[in-house]
Amino acid sequence: MCGIVGYIGNKEAYPILINGLKRLEYRGYDSAGVALLNGNINVYKRKGKVSDLEDYTKSQNTDGTIGIGHTRWATHGEPNDINAHPHRSMDGKFVLIHNGIIENYGKLKKSLEEAGYEFTSDTDTEVLANLIAYIYKEGDMSVEMAVRLALKKVIGAYGLVVFSTEEPDKLIAARKGSPLVIGVGKGEYFLASDATPIVEHTNSVIYLNDDDLAIIKKDQMVLKTIFDEKQEPVVEELDLDIGEIDKNGFPHFMLKEIFEQPRSILDTFRGRVAKDNSEIVLGGLYRVIDDLVQAKRILIVACGTSWHAGQVGEYMIEDLARIPVEVEYGSEFRYRNPVITKDDFVIAISQSGETADTLAAIRMAKEAGARVLGICNVVGSSIPRETDAGVYTHAGPEIGVASTKAFTAQVTVLAMIAMVLGNKRGELSTDDYNELIHDLTEVPAKIEKILQQNEEIKAIAEIYKEATNAIYLGRGYLFPVALEGALKLKEISYIHAEGYPAAEMKHGPIALIDENMPVIVIATKDKSYDKIVSNIQEVKARNGKVIAVVTEGDDTIRNMADHVMEVPESTEMLSALTTVVPLQLLSYHIAVMRGCNVDQPRNLAKSVTVE
Ligand code: AGP
Ligand code: GLU
Repeated sequence: MCGIVGYIGNKEAYPILINGLKRLEYRGYDSAGVALLNGNINVYKRKGKVSDLEDYTKSQNTDGTIGIGHTRWATHGEPNDINAHPHRSMDGKFVLIHNGIIENYGKLKKSLEEAGYEFTSDTDTEVLANLIAYIYKEGDMSVEMAVRLALKKVIGAYGLVVFSTEEPDKLIAARKGSPLVIGVGKGEYFLASDATPIVEHTNSVIYLNDDDLAIIKKDQMVLKTIFDEKQEPVVEELDLDIGEIDKNGFPHFMLKEIFEQPRSILDTFRGRVAKDNSEIVLGGLYRVIDDLVQAKRILIVACGTSWHAGQVGEYMIEDLARIPVEVEYGSEFRYRNPVITKDDFVIAISQSGETADTLAAIRMAKEAGARVLGICNVVGSSIPRETDAGVYTHAGPEIGVASTKAFTAQVTVLAMIAMVLGNKRGELSTDDYNELIHDLTEVPAKIEKILQQNEEIKAIAEIYKEATNAIYLGRGYLFPVALEGALKLKEISYIHAEGYPAAEMKHGPIALIDENMPVIVIATKDKSYDKIVSNIQEVKARNGKVIAVVTEGDDTIRNMADHVMEVPESTEMLSALTTVVPLQLLSYHIAVMRGCNVDQPRNLAKSVTVE
């Protein structure tokens, strides 16, 4: 959670910091602040959006060529001006921004209080600021050493940047569990939680590893660990286009990202699918593919939308490759003593590559001897760096907090893995394999067609925008789509929604159905079609309102349902890729009509780096 930025160089820091915070605002947006060195360190912070901070600083002195900034997603202490970052130590000598949680902050705070320290905020971060100040005061040492010694006492996760009036020519950055990237310019350095604030200034970046500590002056950077071991910085080239992180004329990132799906799916399979559709080559799995083919079991770990993609993956891999698959929430897996063996392959799915629970789950699986693969979107993020092998989804930056194009890109990768495994295990004949590859290459054009119904879907949204509850139903491959549709609606429009396997409705949820209940049924023509038609009848018999996602030209359901949203015919295995799109659009329009902040829904953050 939260976004961190820093700048040290010859330019004015403030505009760089504010623009950087705007780029990172999707990570946290309950309050924001900056600190700038101008003789003293001036700290300005405000509850609310980065724009509130910007308004406030208009009347302030924002001069300075060194500075740090933060946009917060509160964990300790409510979002208000005081709890916003940066935090200053009581003696005023140290100023800190922090992403993560200091888990032993209570104990540290108590001993600091006994030593006479007073605290103004409720945050764990202020404890760290004072701990550094305390250690610094006790011994004859550099700022860097005080930071290192303090971090050794910390239990928890952090990405942080410290600067001090004692040595005002440097920034000190450290990482454990929360991401930090350093941009290398000419006579200047940039710091950020991800590369989006950096790309407009430089393409050369260094990704910090856990326990790294960087001491950064404007013309020099030293990298070591918090244990004082020297590290060799690895400078990488960013492959990110500035245009990709703008809205490109769309009113919201979410809508832009929904509309990008034909392209992002294409980018995800392009280069991996042979031109004649004869085979799929997943370069990232090259070293492990032979063993993966022999796997006795695959465990998929993920959270949220990525977990829904994992569910689709389970059905695909079991269906095509006949390898048993289990899908687990990272947060449950890591704490429930699961059976993991050396023969297992664990696949972590994550858009951000930083989700704390997913990351912890793969660490646990690695310790138990399992091989770990990643399906991630953010290049250079923690999960790809900690997995043995993996496949990137080339969806491009996803900024909207509600995941859309990342989901379809993840499902695309899972489909490719299932097809490759199925063929290599002899479960999927070469003809069927080639036909499925061909079907996959047709998905982008099918999504283009669905997107043309945007206005019709908007009209349906208008009718249901005041709903207080909704049920989503699907069977087989479309059950995870029902879960995903419901999640999209609740997270951005705050309407309570539940996804169910359609047949389970009779075991409870049917009691909820009355004339006010919209029931969204994903009912394309597949092997459960007749069954789901019966489920629609059951809803109609109780006066529920049915909005159905159907195969083009399906008049049977059109005559039964209150509304239909059509998708082109698709092979069953790939149907999640098309059917989810109208549900994304429906949620989007309902949320906009309800006046919700679609790209930054309340209480949420894009990258959940706390457990
Ligand atoms: C999706 O719309 C959510 N905001 C959320 O569930 C998300 O999918 C989850 O936090 C996992 O994130 P990740 O893919 O970056 O690991
Ligand atoms: N734990 C810190 C706080 O609540 C940092 C939260 C964040 O990562 O934004 O202020």
